[in-house]
Amino acid sequence: MKVGVVGTGYVGLVLGAGLAESGNHVVCGDIDVRKIEVLNAGGIPIYEPGLDDLVERNRAKGRLAFTTDIPTLVREATVIFIAVGTPPQEDGSADLQHVLACARTIAANMDGYRLVVVKSTVPVGTCDKVRACLAQHTTHPFDVASNPEFLKEGDAVHDMMKPDRIVCGTDSERARELLTEVYGTFVRTGNPILFMDVRSSEMTKYASNAMLATRISFMNEIAGLCDRIGADVDKVRAGMGADPRIGSRFLFAGVGYGGSCFPKDVKALVATGRENGLAMRVLDAVEEVNADQKLLLVDKLVALLGPDLSGVHCAVWGLAFKPNTDDMREAPATEVIRGLVGRGASVRAYDPIAMDNARGILSGLPRVEFAEDEYAAVDGADVLMLVTEWGEFRQPDFDLVKERMRGRLVLDGRNIWTPARLRELGFTYLGVGRP
Ligand SMILES: NC(=O)c1ccc[n+]([C@@H]2O[C@H](COP(=O)([O-])OP(=O)(O)OC[C@H]3O[C@@H](n4cnc5c(N)ncnc54)[C@H](O)[C@@H]3O)[C@@H](O)[C@H]2O)c1
Repeated sequence: MKVGVVGTGYVGLVLGAGLAESGNHVVCGDIDVRKIEVLNAGGIPIYEPGLDDLVERNRAKGRLAFTTDIPTLVREATVIFIAVGTPPQEDGSADLQHVLACARTIAANMDGYRLVVVKSTVPVGTCDKVRACLAQHTTHPFDVASNPEFLKEGDAVHDMMKPDRIVCGTDSERARELLTEVYGTFVRTGNPILFMDVRSSEMTKYASNAMLATRISFMNEIAGLCDRIGADVDKVRAGMGADPRIGSRFLFAGVGYGGSCFPKDVKALVATGRENGLAMRVLDAVEEVNADQKLLLVDKLVALLGPDLSGVHCAVWGLAFKPNTDDMREAPATEVIRGLVGRGASVRAYDPIAMDNARGILSGLPRVEFAEDEYAAVDGADVLMLVTEWGEFRQPDFDLVKERMRGRLVLDGRNIWTPARLRELGFTYLGVGRP
């Protein structure tokens, strides 16, 4: 199958490489010239474990190519995925300008039947808008299908190659057959392609992310209460998660969710509710809890040292919004660091992969430095704050940390360390919802 992917970001690049791996001929297009240059020079513009091998292998086999020439991509592909960004607007609703710009380009350049698949996360009704836009600009036949993406950054290659489900929204038999052909090899072991109507498919993506965000905010609120009453949220989580109706995943307390999806998708769903006369009260609360949670470590420090943190040196470990990605979009670390320097503290931060992106976002702030490694970050620090739970932070050399720190305070924003051990070593340890 000849496939075009318009938008070669986290989603489009993984999708394109994954589809090429199963034998399709894929061209990934983007308007970002630098991104395409990096890819054509053999590089990868993002950090995603396993993606470089996948891209290289398929490029070498001639099944995967990159271009800024979207018109040619449109002329050469039968199935075209739209995987561009849908960032939040001021009122929280999703900005569809990039999706609709793609639709116009596709319409202007198609020369026969095309299946246009909307992979970007878009509000209910967007595929109708894409269809209307295509109809306005072309007389050639087409179908528009919804096919939301469920990959997790950091594990995206696995999610692409072994999806737990593929959701497709379409009312066209031809589109259904094409999507079955494109995705057939990915579901051979039994995980389903779930075909449904377009609106239900669009809604499934938002409902899934909203549910996951809800679990996080729910557990963070429970952790806040555990802190006050002397219960241990990790034990509570184990006890709750053993109930199969609840399940144990996505119940970790911490410093809140970030990333390019949960914050914007929860806001967009709230906006959709508002536009349709329904207050999304649960999701409003989910957002509110999360906004507070991002400042939890700052609040804990203020509770110990007072509101003026002038002269306090903070080491921050982990900047990406989660481990195994370089993505800093809506990362809790940004809020933590802003909160600290806003109260006069100085920060020395380290992340194994996201340093370049972090510099772009944080370097305008006063009293923020970036360290070469995690131990350089704690040099002379009064407090160590763990914000992102990268694997290499799980078993650090705490003797060395102690030697290099000036103070003894450790704030563990992801509950990855054992409180008793840290206390034995002479640290004052505070986690999230741990006695
Ligand atoms: N990142 C994730 O983990 C994830 C997971 C599931 C769904 N999604 C959704 O997928 C969509 C894409 O997300 P992403 O993280 O890949 O975004 P991204 O910002 O990494 O990539 C989007 C790309 O689209 C390109 N682009 C914009 N307008 C274009 C146009 N007119 N023609 C060609 N290219 C254009 C941009 O230059 C950019 O490279 C969003 O709707 C997002 O919500 C993302």
